[in-house]
Amino acid sequence: MVHDFFRGRRLRQSEQMRAFFAETAPVLRENLIMPYFVVETDDAGFAKEIPSMPGQHQFSLAKLEERVARAVDKGLHAIILFGVPATKDEKASQAYASNGIVQQAVRLLRKKFPKLVIITDVCLCEYMSHGHCGVLTKEGLILNDPTLEYLARTAVSHAEAGADIVAPSDMMDGRVAAIREALDKAGFTMTPIMSYAAKYASAYYGPFRDAAESAPACGDRKTYQMNPANVREAMREVFADLDEGADSIIVKPAGPYGDILRMVRESVDVPVTAYQVSGEYSLIRAAGINGWVDEERIMMESLLGLKRAGADSIITYFTETILEKGLAR
Ligand code: PBG
Ligand code: ZN
Repeated sequence: MVHDFFRGRRLRQSEQMRAFFAETAPVLRENLIMPYFVVETDDAGFAKEIPSMPGQHQFSLAKLEERVARAVDKGLHAIILFGVPATKDEKASQAYASNGIVQQAVRLLRKKFPKLVIITDVCLCEYMSHGHCGVLTKEGLILNDPTLEYLARTAVSHAEAGADIVAPSDMMDGRVAAIREALDKAGFTMTPIMSYAAKYASAYYGPFRDAAESAPACGDRKTYQMNPANVREAMREVFADLDEGADSIIVKPAGPYGDILRMVRESVDVPVTAYQVSGEYSLIRAAGINGWVDEERIMMESLLGLKRAGADSIITYFTETILEKGLAR
């Protein structure tokens, strides 16, 4: 018998052989970040399932604490927090109020779970009556520079409450520099900025806008979030944020933007996080609930794909499930 063709199957013949030759390590618990939605409400028992995100909820402070306690027991390492305030206005006052819902949640969780990595999403859309991520004019324009001060105040208020990391997701130009300067002035020189640098104007955020009650009342986010057609522009955004002082970078959405993840990973030397967004979660869940796919395998394969593309860590709504089922190391 001559050696006339490539026998790729040699290295795949057993479970042991496949594990030995695996190029990508399985997902680690420490690499997973669980998103939570916390609602400002007097009803301490409030826990409402989000219709378009089966298995995900809006929680009151007390319910959030309960839920996080359960997940921490199973090895939860990091969370990212989103707030749903009781009142909204044209200045997003509750985004930077010292007693705002996210600030309260951070203080509570900081005290109860001293080792948990607490990341806060820094944006204004959940707090603006019009649902946009920046200041809106009567003519329907989103003003960039006047928005920066609000974002900076929001980030500082999160750090004051005890957040470990702030993650601006608004896509205004210059926000990382504004936030860095404000944090430093307030004495938070050691608070990292994890910037949503390459964030696309994506239909995959649909379910999130129900969860965070943050859908724009008019227009869309295309003048600030990136055009899904663009690749080179993602590098400009990433380098701009790094120049301004970002410590790590988020690519979002994740799965459909694996090419962006790979490119960013190869071009920068800071940690890269993939955000598997609400729509990616809901598509997998819907097919799983219908019995059309093996949901557990699809869930794990989707995350392996993100690691393979270059993600160091992953924000995913599947985090709790993976921990509960013991599917991460
Ligand atoms: C707020 C924000 C959004 C997401 C994260 N932060 C929504 C948006 O930009 O419209 C999306 C997360 C998800 O879909 O899971 N700016
Ligand atoms: Zn926003």
